[in-house]
Amino acid sequence: MFEHVEPFAGDPILALVEVFNADTRSHKVNLGIGIYFDEEGRIPVLPSVRKAEARVVEAGEPKPYLPIEGAANFRSAVQALLFGAGHPVLRERRVATIQSVGSSGGLKVGADFIRRWLPKAQAWVSDPTWDNHRSMFEGAGLAVHSYPYYDPAGGGVRFDAMLDALRAVPEGSVVLLHACCHNPTGVDLTHAQWDVLIPLLAERRLLPYLDLAYQGFGDGIAEDAYAIRRLADSGATFFVANSFSKSMSVYGERCGALSAVCADADEAERVLGQLKFTVRRNYSSPPIHGGQIVAHVLADADLRPLWEAELAAMRDRIQAMRQTLHRVISAKVPGRDFSYFLTQRGMFSYTGLSAAQVDRLREEFAVYLVRSGRICVAGLNHHNVEYAAQAMATVMAG
Ligand code: LMR
Repeated sequence: MFEHVEPFAGDPILALVEVFNADTRSHKVNLGIGIYFDEEGRIPVLPSVRKAEARVVEAGEPKPYLPIEGAANFRSAVQALLFGAGHPVLRERRVATIQSVGSSGGLKVGADFIRRWLPKAQAWVSDPTWDNHRSMFEGAGLAVHSYPYYDPAGGGVRFDAMLDALRAVPEGSVVLLHACCHNPTGVDLTHAQWDVLIPLLAERRLLPYLDLAYQGFGDGIAEDAYAIRRLADSGATFFVANSFSKSMSVYGERCGALSAVCADADEAERVLGQLKFTVRRNYSSPPIHGGQIVAHVLADADLRPLWEAELAAMRDRIQAMRQTLHRVISAKVPGRDFSYFLTQRGMFSYTGLSAAQVDRLREEFAVYLVRSGRICVAGLNHHNVEYAAQAMATVMAG
């Protein structure tokens, strides 16, 4: 039966974690996967999350199946976080939100919905994008293409080329956009660029599909939701998948959501129904525990400000690591402009390192990053940053 089954080539990000774990060199540095590590190189348990979890456990509630769409308190807290409490799209009940198994689960449910209800739609993703975006849309049966995004020469966005490409894609296409903290480049659209892009998407009748996995890691919770809120203000129909994996450091709890902003309440009800049907056919309903922790943190008058401060501290620590990287590498490789380390946002930085240089970093220096040259800046800390920066500078210099 299974003789013809081919081996899995492995995921470029997750397979690297296994190789890193097997490396016995004590000075090894993991800049591969997009996980926030603290100054001691540990995944933090945020005090806000620990307190919320203790309260959830203390309450000792039963664990029924959640409704297919997830817990009501989680879903409404997510909506307020994304759009801002009281946004007209919420008052008008135009948003269909499901609690999903991480934002990956949400992205895939949305892709399956698109395949079913917009069967001719093609998906357009940025060049480059998170590898799994392509896999998910292809897995749902959509043809996937890319639009120009990152400019390797200048380190910014090829905005004019991006707009030209989006002017030419077939009407009804889905356009995957990173709401903030672009993965893998760390290069975001400015607010002014979003203000140009949003009307173009409407004019061309394209369906924006936003991925918001790093809310709060760019410039702040509301700041990082700029694109979502402006799209909502504009009256657009769009999807947004969001995650709490990074912002609450609850990776393995798989807490995320998918929201569809619709034309009116009746449409939102029907879209929600079909999203539920997709979920029911796949995994029936989401898990209860992590979502209740998230809902508690978001709704509690004491825990919410605590979490916001913890998130700000993670953001600031990443910025401090960016500054050190910039200082050390600029000193060691004179005559080159490394200001991109300072201007990029979120966990990631596209270093421009080639696959051969990445291999050398791993083999000679035990510094791990994915072969695209993306580093997770949040894997740096005061113990390893000088070492990792020196190693990067050495391979860059020759
Ligand atoms: C990453 O890009 O490293 C993270 O989003 C983790 C993942 O699932 O790939």
